[in-house]
Amino acid sequence: MEKQAQRSGAVSQSLPVPALSATGVVKRFDSTVALDGVSVDVLEGECVALVGESGSGKTTLLRCFNALVQPDAGRVLVDGMDVSTADVIELRRHVGYVPQDGGLLPHWRVGRNVELVLRLQRANGDLATRRDDALTIVGLDPGTFRDRWPRELSGGQRQRVAIARALAAHPRLVLLDEPFGALDAISRADLQESFAALRTARAAGRMTCVLVTHDLHEAFLLADRVAVLRRGRLEQVDTPAILLTRPATSYVNELLARARVSAADLDRRLVRHGAAT
Ligand SMILES: Nc1ncnc2c1ncn2[C@@H]1O[C@H](COP(=O)(O)OP(=O)(O)OP(=O)(O)O)[C@@H](O)[C@H]1O
Ligand SMILES: [Mg+2]
Repeated sequence: MEKQAQRSGAVSQSLPVPALSATGVVKRFDSTVALDGVSVDVLEGECVALVGESGSGKTTLLRCFNALVQPDAGRVLVDGMDVSTADVIELRRHVGYVPQDGGLLPHWRVGRNVELVLRLQRANGDLATRRDDALTIVGLDPGTFRDRWPRELSGGQRQRVAIARALAAHPRLVLLDEPFGALDAISRADLQESFAALRTARAAGRMTCVLVTHDLHEAFLLADRVAVLRRGRLEQVDTPAILLTRPATSYVNELLARARVSAADLDRRLVRHGAAT
């Protein structure tokens, strides 16, 4: 998507437009306040991890960025454009999305599922190559898997196909909702490494990502900054190093302690030249 709208005002003209931006976002579901005034910017090329307990609003916030959730108040911008007035189909074609449940279409074979966004974008000639490349990146042999039905896959394999589908069209912006949750430790580590390498490998520049995860170690491994959500509010958004050394609230401090996150996690990071590190 082209950057069309720029924020007005002499001061803001010199500032970069964040790739993704939420300001004062509120979302209620009946009596549940899922998001309670959340503001966060994701810079071009940055990976921000959303962490927090179950029900803290991670998925709801993520889905605001591709208009699957419409906020009751606040503003959500993608490349400076207001999501509430954007062409939703166009938006979703350009923002890769890995839903929490994988979201594969059960009546389509694996290959067709992976081709979905490519077909929507009318990608020509190299459709099969890009599909097979995407499957290979997530560790699935195209010859073995592309003609299978989603029901013939394990949970972890389905998750890989969902990641392949989101990445096949080489999106500049990607939203990932616990993409590695169903994988065993070894597959998970492999895929985390492939993902980190992929973010930096694209000629068009680094992929901008929002990564939802329950796992603080994963957040530290992959993200430039980590956003801690609690009951629909952001407690802190900072680099892993700052979270560790200067937790903003006792909740953040406790969360890190319970997860046994430590300075050793900073040494294991797969992001070394992030926008915010
Ligand atoms: N469509 C919906 N209708 C009603 N309530 C909803 C809906 N979607 C989310 N909620 C509620 O909003 C709150 C935030 O949900 P959300 O899915 O964003 O949490 P989450 O942080 O992603 O949790 P998890 O880690 O379990 O995936 C929860 O209390 C949830 O029950
Ligand atoms: Mg969720």
